[in-house]
Amino acid sequence: MTGPGYGTVASAFSRDAVGTTMRLRGWLLRSRSSGGILFLLLRDRTGIVQVTGRRDELGDEAFDAAEHVQVEGAVAVEGVVADDPRAPGGREVRARRITVLDAGEPFPIFAEQTEEFRLDKRHLAIRSQELVATFRVKAELLRAFREFLDREEVLEVTPPIITGNAAEGGAEAFQFDYFGRPGYLSQTAQLYLEAMIAPHERVYALTPSFRAEKSRTPRHITEFLNLEIELAWCDFEELLAFIERMFVDVCHVVAERRPAELAFLGRPPEELRAVRAPFPRIRYAEAIDRLVAQGFPVAWGSDLGSSEERALTLEEHQPRFLTHFPRELKAFYMLQSPDDPRTVEAADLLGPEGYGEIVGASCRETRVDKLLERLRAIGADPATYEWYLDLRRHGNVPHAGFGLGVERMLRWMLRREHIRDTTPFPRTPSRHTP
Ligand code: 4AD
Ligand code: MG
Repeated sequence: MTGPGYGTVASAFSRDAVGTTMRLRGWLLRSRSSGGILFLLLRDRTGIVQVTGRRDELGDEAFDAAEHVQVEGAVAVEGVVADDPRAPGGREVRARRITVLDAGEPFPIFAEQTEEFRLDKRHLAIRSQELVATFRVKAELLRAFREFLDREEVLEVTPPIITGNAAEGGAEAFQFDYFGRPGYLSQTAQLYLEAMIAPHERVYALTPSFRAEKSRTPRHITEFLNLEIELAWCDFEELLAFIERMFVDVCHVVAERRPAELAFLGRPPEELRAVRAPFPRIRYAEAIDRLVAQGFPVAWGSDLGSSEERALTLEEHQPRFLTHFPRELKAFYMLQSPDDPRTVEAADLLGPEGYGEIVGASCRETRVDKLLERLRAIGADPATYEWYLDLRRHGNVPHAGFGLGVERMLRWMLRREHIRDTTPFPRTPSRHTP
């Protein structure tokens, strides 16, 4: 029973399937037998259906073989679709034939194991209903981003992952030997996207970014998907409006297309439908005042970490922009604010309910002297940025952009405790396998 002619579990639940003979194949969720009848729960990509098999119909040999299939073993089934109120979803497939494709060994994952064990067995754990639902939503979110960006006439481009300089600051870059010279895994595609706006004006890339941060927090992974957008002719107001438009649109689309998975994971789709622009804004200086009033030991110049961001968003139901950070806190390429030179025209979008930063955005500095000043201040070698500075010498125009951490967004969207559960094979300081 291999080859064409297989249906899907979903099609077994269609209105006119009852009474027809179908062939299905998939993996065993669980099985039991009693009184010469075998009950299998069969899973494929489209759902779960009960399959029953009678010893007197299958024959002893086939029945015994099917009975010994382990959880997550693989089988093919041929049988008649029937309504049965006792079966999950009210349907079952009464098997005429069950072919064991792989009986399997005892499945090592079951309830009450440690999180570490499950992470060691991640290649198998990704079959759990929770992770299946998670990655269906993730795919839908990525699709929604691409559809939105396509409508906005933003061109998808493919920047390199191997780079010769560390764009977001050297300390957190993964360095490796590139034929005798230092190479770095990309922390951001931004500098390359800035180069690509001259020919294309509006570009985006969805690429992995790498951060060698030792931080063991529920919101840091060392490899994450960065959705980065760069827009020529864009000022600060237009930048924030673009982010709002995109964020609201994809929340609504995902709520529309994946309501069951969202509800299953603990995020009622109505909550995503309720996301509305404009998002409230708060300036860094005002945030500091508010945090001081709440007893946080912070002052102008303090970097705001998870707990500060949490305090700023815990009671919120809409995302919120935190803007106008001190220049020294932020990357060298950010535009000095015209109205307050101590600050940059930058904004972080903080997820509501305490989730914190999801987007990092800024207008870009266009003046070479300002860029050099900041590069020297952070102790970077301007020579390695020469190609980037060149962009300011040939058709230098105002522009802005942002990076959205896809897993950060999903962590909020799916109310996940830990960001690692938004990516199939999470990379953290203590783990890069399986
Ligand atoms: O704020 P970041 O560092 O900004 C940049 O990389 C800019 N160059 C982007 C741009 O303007 N093109 O990173 C962007 C986003 C953050 O807001 C956060 O959501 C996510 O990437 N991020 C991480 N996600 C998971 N684990 C980490 N260690 C992350 N570091 C950043
Ligand atoms: Mg940031």
